[in-house]
Amino acid sequence: MPVSGNLQANMSNGTVEVNSGPEKEQESQVFEPPAEISKNAYVKSLDEYQAMYKKSISDPEEFWKDILADYHFEEKQSDDKPFFNYNFDMNQGPVSIKWLEGAKTNISYNLLDRNVKKGLGDTIAFYWEGNDPKDESKMTYGELLKEVCKFANVLKTLGVKKGDRVAIYMPMIIELPIAMLGCARIGAIHSIVFGGFSADSLADRMIDAQTSVLITSDGVWRGEKIIHLKEISDKAIAKCGDANLDVKHCIVVNHLPRLAVNKVDESTNQSPVKRKQFDYLTPFDETRDKWYHELMEKADDVCTPEWVDAEDPLFMLYTSGSTGKPKGVLHTTAGYMIYAATTFKYVFDYQPGDIYWCTADIGWITGHTYVTYGPLANGATSVIFEGTPFYPTNSRFWDVVDKYKVNQFYTAPTAIRSLMKFGDSFVKECNRSSLKILGTVGEPINPEAWLWYYNVVGDARCPIVDTYWQTETGGHVITPLPGATPSKPGSATFPFFGVVPVLLTEEGKEIEGPGEGYLVFKKPWPGMMRTVYGDHDRFETTYFKRFPGYYFTGDGAKRDNDGYIWITGRVDDMLNVSGHLLSTAQVESALIEHKAVAESAAVAMPHKVKGEALYCFVTLRDGFEFSSQLEGELKLKVREKIGAFAAPEVIQLAPALPKTRSGKIMRRILRKIAVGDSNFGDTSTLADESVIDLLLQHRPETA
Ligand code: WT7
Repeated sequence: MPVSGNLQANMSNGTVEVNSGPEKEQESQVFEPPAEISKNAYVKSLDEYQAMYKKSISDPEEFWKDILADYHFEEKQSDDKPFFNYNFDMNQGPVSIKWLEGAKTNISYNLLDRNVKKGLGDTIAFYWEGNDPKDESKMTYGELLKEVCKFANVLKTLGVKKGDRVAIYMPMIIELPIAMLGCARIGAIHSIVFGGFSADSLADRMIDAQTSVLITSDGVWRGEKIIHLKEISDKAIAKCGDANLDVKHCIVVNHLPRLAVNKVDESTNQSPVKRKQFDYLTPFDETRDKWYHELMEKADDVCTPEWVDAEDPLFMLYTSGSTGKPKGVLHTTAGYMIYAATTFKYVFDYQPGDIYWCTADIGWITGHTYVTYGPLANGATSVIFEGTPFYPTNSRFWDVVDKYKVNQFYTAPTAIRSLMKFGDSFVKECNRSSLKILGTVGEPINPEAWLWYYNVVGDARCPIVDTYWQTETGGHVITPLPGATPSKPGSATFPFFGVVPVLLTEEGKEIEGPGEGYLVFKKPWPGMMRTVYGDHDRFETTYFKRFPGYYFTGDGAKRDNDGYIWITGRVDDMLNVSGHLLSTAQVESALIEHKAVAESAAVAMPHKVKGEALYCFVTLRDGFEFSSQLEGELKLKVREKIGAFAAPEVIQLAPALPKTRSGKIMRRILRKIAVGDSNFGDTSTLADESVIDLLLQHRPETA
């Protein structure tokens, strides 16, 4: 039940240009954790959280030591070394972060063998729910261990060794975590590329990581559509060839026909998915390509794990960079493992026997940490879902919740907003009584969506954990704990154990108490990234240069009078489309590849469902005319270069762009034009003020 407090909002003395933050009214709405949840939770009250938090900061060694006791280390770190060994200050030498260096472990052993030894061999690790509601399967911890060992042996026979990078471009099928853990078992570094990325994006990432093995599948169903992943993979491999990267092996999971084989609708004797799609022949290069199932048939199901150093790389995952070139965020083994495991346990309050479901794609960090690593480390049972929330109906999420009796449900604000549009009946027709905890991640959640999630989906009895984190942080860093933290809609609340958030002014001064500033972290936590793959300089410049001694998130945040943290959004040239980070530079460089475009500028505009959407301005070369056909070609260009999720919402002709005298594009002005706000503020630094009128004249009516 909402409890209204007498909280006073502190409006910032704002030095940072950020999106609008909490309104007074929202700040005053507080939702206490339901007594039912608190009673059995690992952390039962705010006091208890505060005590644990305090210990995690004042004595991190003791704090993590208790947790480490549950995990297997083949060799312990020598006693005379501290857990953490780090430098955040570039002026003192290279930035470095090490945790438990010298200890030896293997994450696949900890997630699988350790749990099987504990007696979880017959416990379901994953329920798999296909795009088609008739398509399903499941796998126990015992079976998963065998499959992972088999796949690790497959990789070995293909010559993959410790430290090699392996590219993975797969849909949401159980073979994906098997591939990840197969890599981890032998110390290979996986580099997963989300299945929605284009061939160009896949190739860029493979070239950067120099991966000579790619694991993919023939395709995937998304609602009524099939996406032919192998065809996209082939294009990417060809592009790698142009860059002198020889992709020696492409392992292909034969996924598309499984429905035809497994499930036929008795009434019509037809598979529920249109017949013609099964006649599809996957393009196959007999020397380079190998079917996954053929390789697995011959593989031994025992594989001794490679004992790797705590600081040996586990995986890399690309995230957008403000220069436009994606950064390979590198995570290492022990710190990531323990942090994923601990955040999963406390933030979702996962109790043995619970059924947990995170809807994120494994191709993003959310799926890495909270579909694969965190849940398996805890011996949890989770659901992996291939499909979309809208197929076959807009009730699909809640149907799946009822089918598996899901207790913890974790999704993104953009999914919540897109479902809200269809009204409450799609939710209400499902039972949902199994739900205990609801989670959200990816972008700030607007209070309206929060309240709908809370009242309609959760029937006002499930706490919401609004988890703030990043690809770089490895796991949640600012988040409520469901049994302990009174929540305020739109606030990610307080730091997780071991995390020290600080708000800085423009000048880098720490803001004590309420205020608004740049969100940084003052100390490392075990799961944070260690470097940008192959470019440590870029790691330092991106995250540590602006404010020496701190890790800079790129986000702005406010702290209210009760100490609650409210993320206000990116303060750099990044935008967040449906929870996916994009850099404006990346989009601009895709646009100017079109022969008609001389110059371009992309800005974010607010969007009801996506959170933010792209509004692009293009200046054309002489001899080209703006037309709806050109607009279509430009949108296609961005889809091809980046992926469908990045397609611009609006493209407008810009006879000229607003620039300062030194030639810098004034994006502030473009953002105003995008939203139709004519209050341009100070325009005196513009080289030519008449540009504004020109741009307004060309603003499309549909914008
Ligand atoms: C950026 C990181 C972490 C998994 C998904 C995105 C934004 C993420 C929240 C939240 C406000 C959030 C931030 C952050 N963000 N979660 N709960 N509240 N903002 O990972 O692609 O690395 O994006 O997403 O701006 O910096 P990512």
